[in-house]
Amino acid sequence: MKSYLKSPLLLAVLLLNLCCKTETPPSGLVTKNAMVVSARQEASAIGSAILAKGGNAFDAMVATELALAVAYPFAGNLGGGGFMVYRKANGDVGSIDYREKAPASAHRDLYLDEAGNVIPGMSTLGATAVGVPGTIAGITEVHAKMGSLPFDEILAPVIALAKKGVVVTEKQAKSMASQREIIAKISGEQSLFAQHYVAGDTIKYPALATTLAAIAKGGRKAFYEGEMAEKIAAFIQERGGFITREDLANYEAVWRQPVIFNYKDLRIISMSPPSSGGVTMHQIFKMIEPYNMKDFGHNSPQSIQLFTEASRRAYADRNFFLGDPDFSPIPLDVLLSDAYLKERMSNFSFDKATLSSEVSHGAIQIMESEETTHYSIVDQDGNAVSVTTTLNGAFGSKLYSEELGFFFNNEMDDFSAKAGVPNMFGLIGAEANSIAPGKRMLSSMTPTIVEKEGKLWLVVGTPGGSTIITAVAQTILNAYEHGLSMQDAVNAPRFHHQWLPDTVIFEPEGFSKNTLSTLKEKGYLINEERTRIIGKVDAIRVLENGQLEAGADPRGDDAAVGF
Ligand code: DON
Repeated sequence: MKSYLKSPLLLAVLLLNLCCKTETPPSGLVTKNAMVVSARQEASAIGSAILAKGGNAFDAMVATELALAVAYPFAGNLGGGGFMVYRKANGDVGSIDYREKAPASAHRDLYLDEAGNVIPGMSTLGATAVGVPGTIAGITEVHAKMGSLPFDEILAPVIALAKKGVVVTEKQAKSMASQREIIAKISGEQSLFAQHYVAGDTIKYPALATTLAAIAKGGRKAFYEGEMAEKIAAFIQERGGFITREDLANYEAVWRQPVIFNYKDLRIISMSPPSSGGVTMHQIFKMIEPYNMKDFGHNSPQSIQLFTEASRRAYADRNFFLGDPDFSPIPLDVLLSDAYLKERMSNFSFDKATLSSEVSHGAIQIMESEETTHYSIVDQDGNAVSVTTTLNGAFGSKLYSEELGFFFNNEMDDFSAKAGVPNMFGLIGAEANSIAPGKRMLSSMTPTIVEKEGKLWLVVGTPGGSTIITAVAQTILNAYEHGLSMQDAVNAPRFHHQWLPDTVIFEPEGFSKNTLSTLKEKGYLINEERTRIIGKVDAIRVLENGQLEAGADPRGDDAAVGF
């Protein structure tokens, strides 16, 4: 051993190793014990206060989820659903699926007219678009199994916030203005959200406060049974929708095994179907693992090519094979096997782009909107919670109950409305994600937890529809391969490719002309126009000294609070 150390070359290698293990210094907010990062300061503050009074990460989840329904009605919700992945301080991992479900009367051709064409707007706007909400079932189930503080104590500050009101930010004023007309059309000119607001206004939510107070008292039953369930079903049916009292009473959140895989010396824990997030990210990571991305450089043409080609193949599989596992079996043993993934990449070359038309499977174009929300929590004991929750579109179906004080989702649009048959654009939907009674629609939400050397390292996730998976994967790679701090990994410009359409989208101004022209020369079709931003990532990194660094996305009003 001693003579080994005498070799100058080996010594240099050892030193290099030492140097490269040096942790990247934080550039985001650092706290000593606990942290919540979410889309709004008010929600992060309420979650953090629950931790400070001795609640655990699961209590803070309940508080943050509902506080977002008050402070971030764009996506925070009672009328939607989501997924949570957790890792307890003792290393136990798990996840819960509180995704919306199709009502019992739904069927495969629900959104088709007599000629078999998709009826525009029917799965996106108003009562017909609404799936059976899962959020209250999700949080009450989490609380019953993992919470520590009394439920009503957790809800008290959320109810107080709804009564006191929330100040409209610049960004919120813009998003409300852009949706005002359509909300007025669906929910009426008198609707709380059909009014004109400017930054600095305070909006109070008395109806929502009353609804939350009933839930604080009655728990799950207060929402899914009795008077409130009756009101919800009547409200939706009067407007032509399908949800019945039975649909609500029958809704259950489901504990699921997360998708777990290794990437180099990381262990990544993410959401399993009916979200495609974990499976698709698993495929992407395994396809890029044989290459040394670190040597290619951050957002270099080679890194972008490798990531894009892996995404192309993974999304082709996603669109064909994935759906609700309770309805159709998914061949995960094949899709996630090393041999299969190696074969998938066998025609990849750095010389030129693969055409999506040369990559099987199926041909559905996913154009999801970008209004979901993610929050990450680490508590003072080291328990971690990663949650993505959504109404699907901005303010969901735009259907707002003045009486109950919340929006309903338009998650039914995440199904493939026309399964197996070319739609009006000549695209073919996938059978695995066709509509059926009581089925969950396929999601891209990717709440994720990453371990490094067996210890909790990152908690990460984002909104962004189909771009969620690539944004989460890029954030992890930014931190791991390219050594960026948590905040810098979140800030870094992102790109996205999803097989179809066969274009790569880039956040404007984030990529040099040289990089883009190198990619164009290799045959990549580049679209800088489609999106202003890709995702709003909210993440936490556990530093080597045990402290926590936030990555709160400056693309939104996102904020970290902790102690
Ligand atoms: O579950 C899904 O994949 C979509 N409903 C998510 C929508 C979304 O991310 C919109 N957000 N930014």
